[in-house]
Amino acid sequence: MRRGINLALTGFRENLEKMSAFANRIKNQLVYLAWMQALIATVGSLFFSEVMSFVPCELCWYQRILMYPLVLVLTIGILLRDQYIRYYALPLSLLGLGIAAYHNLLYYGVIPTGWHVCTGGVPCETRWIQWFGFVGIPFLSLTAFAIVTLSLLWYSLPKTEYEDNLPETSQSISYHWIKRTVSVAMLTVYAALFLIALTNGKPDTINKSIPSTAYIAPASAESLTSVGEQLITEGRQLYSQSCANCHGSEGQGVSGLGVDLSDSPFIAANTDSVLLEFIKTGRQVSDPENSTGMTMPGKGSNIALADDEILAIITYIRSISVNELDLSEN
Ligand code: HEC
Repeated sequence: MRRGINLALTGFRENLEKMSAFANRIKNQLVYLAWMQALIATVGSLFFSEVMSFVPCELCWYQRILMYPLVLVLTIGILLRDQYIRYYALPLSLLGLGIAAYHNLLYYGVIPTGWHVCTGGVPCETRWIQWFGFVGIPFLSLTAFAIVTLSLLWYSLPKTEYEDNLPETSQSISYHWIKRTVSVAMLTVYAALFLIALTNGKPDTINKSIPSTAYIAPASAESLTSVGEQLITEGRQLYSQSCANCHGSEGQGVSGLGVDLSDSPFIAANTDSVLLEFIKTGRQVSDPENSTGMTMPGKGSNIALADDEILAIITYIRSISVNELDLSEN
């Protein structure tokens, strides 16, 4: 009986040792994970802006400023086997993490509009992508900064001779304590933002806010106007999320990005269904009809836009148009 227990204990201890040896081996590789994540984030962000023509917002720029150098800094640190790598990489990734967290709170509507720092240029809430219905670019950025930071925090350095001679100082104990606290705090924030993104990320469709029966049988002239007004309001909101970056907040156009829509003969001369098709496909620079040499991305790059949402946007654009709809040319 005793022997049996002893044997079991030895087996357990051996397993524990094996497991901690395995954990140590993983810890030693974490710096490569941080490097790879920084590289993927950098390439991805360049892909979004240079290939997909998404315009980076103000907060996006700060996150890029902090993410891009991480690739270089980590590469050099790895090549030099520098044991202090985390001391110059963590400040970048922690700052980036803070900005990304703030950006997500704006993006998912937790911070009231009055507090926005994002004033110039593209609105920080612009939804260029909507993966799985809730993952936007700010969330990808937050994930990248979280992975880089956690990897660097837990990355254990190969002990140098100098360190081997040091007694277990109180400093290293307090570093462990900081490591744990920061990790727990970060994971809590990440989980909270994940939940917020999941619940707030789904785009509201027009169908939700306007009962569909209202389209079919308006009870009176009064309710007809109110449905029209509601559609315009809805359209304006969608427009400001997906189109205003390039076409201006009032459709006045932004030089170098998009044309004036309020005074567009193209809009005045075409039906809603033609405009719907045009907005869905966009117009590449290579298109012979392209007159500006700039890309109009399909759906303004907001792939989550549904047809009825684009129709609401068209209703809004017609409401700000200085030209009357004139189909006589067709
Ligand atoms: C990345 C910038 C960008 C975004 C975002 C964008 N557009 Fe455009 N849009 C353009 C450019 C550039 C043109 C002009 C293309 C050309 O030269 O033919 C254009 C042209 C148009 C035109 C034709 C205007 C005319 O007079 O020829 C319409 C209509 C239009 N956009 C609607 C929209 C709508 C609606 C959205 C939002 C769903 C949107 N655009 C989002 C850049 C953009």
